[in-house]
Amino acid sequence: MPLKFTLFIYIYIYIYIYIYIMQNIFVCYAKTPSFSIDYHQNCFLKDGEPFRYISGSIHYSRIPRVYWKDRLLKMYMAGLNAIQTYVPWNFHEPVPGQYDFSGDRDLEHFLQLCRDIGLLVIMRPGPYICAEWDMGGLPSWLLKKKDIVLRSSDPDYLAAVDKWMGQLLPIISRHLYQNGGPIITVQVENEYGSYFACDFNYMRHLRQLFRSHLGEEVVLFTTDGAGVGYLKCGSLQGIYATVDFGPGSNVTAAFKAQRHAEPRGPLVNSEFYTGWLDHWGEKHAVIPTAAVVKSLNEILEMGANVNLYMFIGGTNFGYWNGANSPYGPQPTSYDYDAPLTEAGDFTEKYFAIREVIKMYKYVPEGLLPPSTPKFAYGQVKMKKLKTVSESLDILSFSGPVKTLYPPTFTEMNQAFGFMLYQTVLPVNCLKPTPLSSPLNGVHDRAYISIDGIAAGILERNKALTINITGKAGSRVDVLVENMGRINYGREINDFKGLVFNLTLGADVLGNWTVYSLSIDEAVHKGLLSASSGFISTSTSSPPALSPPAFYAGSFIIPNGIPDLPQDTYIQFPNWRKGQVWINGFNVGRYWPSRGPQVTLFVPAHLLSTSVQNNITVLELEASPCSSGSCTVEFTDTPVINGTVKISSLLHFTYGVKCQKHAHLFLCI
Ligand SMILES: *[C@@H]1O[C@H](CO)[C@@H](O)[C@H](O)[C@H]1NC(C)=O
Ligand SMILES: *[C@@H]1O[C@H](CO)[C@@H](O)[C@H](O)[C@H]1NC(C)=O
Ligand SMILES: *[C@@H]1O[C@H](CO)[C@@H](O)[C@H](O)[C@H]1NC(C)=O
Ligand SMILES: *[C@@H]1O[C@H](CO)[C@@H](O)[C@H](O)[C@H]1NC(C)=O
Ligand SMILES: *[C@@H]1O[C@H](CO)[C@@H](O)[C@H](O)[C@H]1NC(C)=O
Ligand SMILES: *[C@@H]1O[C@H](CO)[C@@H](O)[C@H](O)[C@H]1NC(C)=O
Repeated sequence: MPLKFTLFIYIYIYIYIYIYIMQNIFVCYAKTPSFSIDYHQNCFLKDGEPFRYISGSIHYSRIPRVYWKDRLLKMYMAGLNAIQTYVPWNFHEPVPGQYDFSGDRDLEHFLQLCRDIGLLVIMRPGPYICAEWDMGGLPSWLLKKKDIVLRSSDPDYLAAVDKWMGQLLPIISRHLYQNGGPIITVQVENEYGSYFACDFNYMRHLRQLFRSHLGEEVVLFTTDGAGVGYLKCGSLQGIYATVDFGPGSNVTAAFKAQRHAEPRGPLVNSEFYTGWLDHWGEKHAVIPTAAVVKSLNEILEMGANVNLYMFIGGTNFGYWNGANSPYGPQPTSYDYDAPLTEAGDFTEKYFAIREVIKMYKYVPEGLLPPSTPKFAYGQVKMKKLKTVSESLDILSFSGPVKTLYPPTFTEMNQAFGFMLYQTVLPVNCLKPTPLSSPLNGVHDRAYISIDGIAAGILERNKALTINITGKAGSRVDVLVENMGRINYGREINDFKGLVFNLTLGADVLGNWTVYSLSIDEAVHKGLLSASSGFISTSTSSPPALSPPAFYAGSFIIPNGIPDLPQDTYIQFPNWRKGQVWINGFNVGRYWPSRGPQVTLFVPAHLLSTSVQNNITVLELEASPCSSGSCTVEFTDTPVINGTVKISSLLHFTYGVKCQKHAHLFLCI
């Protein structure tokens, strides 16, 4: 090879490498990620450029992990450039010092998916989150200290917060935008201005805690109702104040409230309500698409940043629903009338919102991911197993505790579900005698039987007395259901169980034998399945009310139909109220006799095509089984807007009338 030519080649390669290196240095330099607030241009800056987010709320804790990607992709295709999520503390630290970030709790996997899909993340780690989630995300073991002041600088509360945040914030730090992750902003507390404590030392403590783990650079923010009154206790120097408000609000006036706290900087609505939450016994909430679209357009026209709460609501599986005060628990579905349904399907609201976003920013072209197909597996025959009181040998591993007066769930180290309180009638009650909870201390519903015969139901705020009869020495069984802890307001210290004494006539009932019940563990071990041989021997005529009992059934998914298993919905024709497990997974509470929710979402990944699928039901009031039709049914169509009914077994006394106002409940 001629020397000249070789030299030429070398020079060529040298120049090529030089350009390559320079290009990369330049690219790397320009790409150093940064996210900040520009107080001159009144906007966010992403990598030094003005940036506006249009975000949507999705709570990973309400969606099975297998569907995270599908839901995020649908959000991306709507034109969103960010998502917002809460971290529920009690979902990750069930017992003090035991942390769970696996499976459906794998926060880092969720954040990785957001990043891969191209969605930024607005992180809301609490510690309190509200969210219609049990106790607003706070772990109920905090109530071990009876007089703890939650969400304040109570030293025991702060010590628990510091320990938890010592686990969580380093995870968040790894995924901050400036560290190569998707998280652009981090919220401190949640609507703190709506809480009675107004403890600035608490907020200062959180600011210091967040800064120490996340650094000085990250944009911290607070969210409060769009009124100067809320911002007073909710905002703090050094944390950017944002507001929340829904359709129909005066957008100008709402942002004026934010400007009161933040004279300059980006306008932000952190919760723009696309729908609204439900309660058992209240009509399903629907917010018209036209109202959502109109206000969203106004917000975007002002150049404001917005997060749509919820973009997909999802499901309160198991026992995770919260409650409002005066006590009103939320149902299993958290559909929220959001643009994507509980099961991740498109609605007309989705497409209408997408059209609005299109007027302001690029919306990805291309095919939308298909809606997940649903399948009606049909009716499944159920068999009655034993009652709860007959099953104590498999439900209560540690055995009972004997106490003079009744303990709470927390005192028995049980967080969720059901506990059984047993005593005996101290005297003959030959005439109907009132068994009462005079201080409204049944939290939240008690199913009472005398010598194994159902005698009635006590319910918090709604039924404080029943009449009973029985001989002295008769066994009194009181099965108490925790229906979900209050998640908003000053009553979040929501103890469960019998929190005050029951009385019989004029006397306080005492000498209790109390069973902590591990129903979920028993179901998991297959002890409450159709093949467990745990069959009931009783054959009685259809009673108006029967003691809480288990039922089990199984079904096989048919061969020869492609693409099974598919998602489905389970419903309970002529059943009343209870809890349902499918293949050991606690799907949630059903209560068609109260409404409005009728069907429960059952995601496909719970089902098997190779072996039989097992259903366990705990029916608390009365099943249709003794009247011949003992079935549950899988359908392909959800019903969450059924008629609201009030059981004739209860005497309702609504002392207080409540109204929805913006994001708050005003009681008059
Ligand atoms: C909205 O609020 C602004 C600012 O407070 C006020 O000037 C305006 O009249 C209000 N608009 C309506 C329709 O009430
Ligand atoms: C209990 O019985 C008494 C006397 O028969 C009656 O007045 C009262 O209404 C009954 N209470 C309930 C809750 O059924
Ligand atoms: C139950 O009644 C006893 C006796 O009156 C009383 O000492 C005790 O404090 C009561 N417990 C609760 C939780 O009200
Ligand atoms: C509990 O049982 C003891 C012993 O039988 C009895 O003396 C006492 O009166 C009972 N207390 C209550 C509150 O029932
Ligand atoms: C249902 O129960 C049967 C019998 O106990 C068991 O063989 C089967 O694996 C269970 N099905 C699933 C999906 O777990
Ligand atoms: C319930 O929702 C369905 C589907 O959106 C609708 O067709 C139906 O009219 C609603 N029913 C009631 C009682 O509102």
